[in-house]
Amino acid sequence: MRLLAVVLLFALAYAKHEKYDGWKSYYVGPASAEQLKALGPILDQYFVDVLSHPIVQREGVVLVAPNHQDGFTKALEDLAIDYKVHADNVKAALDYDDTLIAAKKARDFIRSGGRNLPYDNYQTLETIDAYLIDIAARFPDTVTLVNPANSFEDRPIYYLKISTTNFQDESKPVIFIDGGIHAREWVSPPSVTWMIHKLTEDITEPDLLEKFDWIILPVVNPDGYAFTFSSDRFWRKTRSTDSHAWSTLCPGVDGNRNYDFFWNTVGTSASPCVETYGGSQAFSEIETRVVRDLLHEYLHRMALYLTMHSYGSMILYGWGHDGSLSPNAFALHTVGVSMAAAIDARKLPNFHNYIVGNAALVLWYGASGASEDYAHLIGVPLAYTYELPGLQGGFEGFHLDPIYIEQVCRETWEGIVVGARRAGELFR
Ligand code: ARG
Ligand code: ZN
Repeated sequence: MRLLAVVLLFALAYAKHEKYDGWKSYYVGPASAEQLKALGPILDQYFVDVLSHPIVQREGVVLVAPNHQDGFTKALEDLAIDYKVHADNVKAALDYDDTLIAAKKARDFIRSGGRNLPYDNYQTLETIDAYLIDIAARFPDTVTLVNPANSFEDRPIYYLKISTTNFQDESKPVIFIDGGIHAREWVSPPSVTWMIHKLTEDITEPDLLEKFDWIILPVVNPDGYAFTFSSDRFWRKTRSTDSHAWSTLCPGVDGNRNYDFFWNTVGTSASPCVETYGGSQAFSEIETRVVRDLLHEYLHRMALYLTMHSYGSMILYGWGHDGSLSPNAFALHTVGVSMAAAIDARKLPNFHNYIVGNAALVLWYGASGASEDYAHLIGVPLAYTYELPGLQGGFEGFHLDPIYIEQVCRETWEGIVVGARRAGELFR
């Protein structure tokens, strides 16, 4: 019986990552600005899926389909751009990850009785939703659970309002943090649920709870997130099928190209089959409309907006479409640097130091329709994209090893603490 279950599990897992059989992932490390610039067209030409953006002298990780591997590596060699194989067979690496995750889960289940959210393993949508409901029930004086809308596939989109004054004190600055807009960026939702933990179950910075009202939305894109667990580990977009005539073939919209900020102009695609498809119009997606409406509802007192992505160890601010700077660039930069320094002081030696800067200048590609730009455009004084750490340091599977999740959450919280305090000082 037991053996049968194991065989079945294995067969399921085997079928699951079929799509990535023969795919390879590569580290790509441009040594100069020229090489980085030359890389852009190569990535497009070979339909390369960028998991972590390379910048000058910091390698990124990219996925390449079997039929494009020769052309891609040849093009890199012609330009003398450094690369090495990261996972020789992506499917095998994903299968390996699954065994780690499954083994961990089995042990956790026995230990915890299912109550606490794991930080030594990835968090499924069900565990996150259950946690949010549980926290709201356990901390009724400070926490309110809100379900403003459901996703395209009718999953609840939940956020928590955390406040000692039930959001009634209009003089308090609001801090809004979201995660999980890009489905495959699995370390993002745990970094956000950890913030909830630090504002409820384990308060070590009471000033943050006293002085601010918090809006915390761990999974903006629940459909995509669930899909990465059930079907396609590298799904990035939403799962909508109403955006384009081809959307039944190629579902989904890149949520971070769907905001009304120079929508559909740069670093985005009008083709629904591309990872950076911006949608039929700005805010075509219910998921981005939920974030938009929250930004507007609390705009008059919002001091800080953060959106959590991975990977890269970067803190990025606007304007992300063309690299120009906002009138608030000095504050954006100095607060960004303070957050980064606080994280770096706590990070593990095998992770990179954070890089802080304008998104388009740091990444060397402009992208329109991103949430941090939209938030800043409408008037949130401090708005950032976090690219959390990961994918560095050799390990056997594909992903950030689950043993690092809690570390990332803890160090990221140090950045939030500093960012919140600085935002509070600068507010008004
Ligand atoms: N990796 C993120 C993305 O491609 C970076 C967004 C940076 N922000 C920006 N405004 N371009 O969505
Ligand atoms: Zn992302």
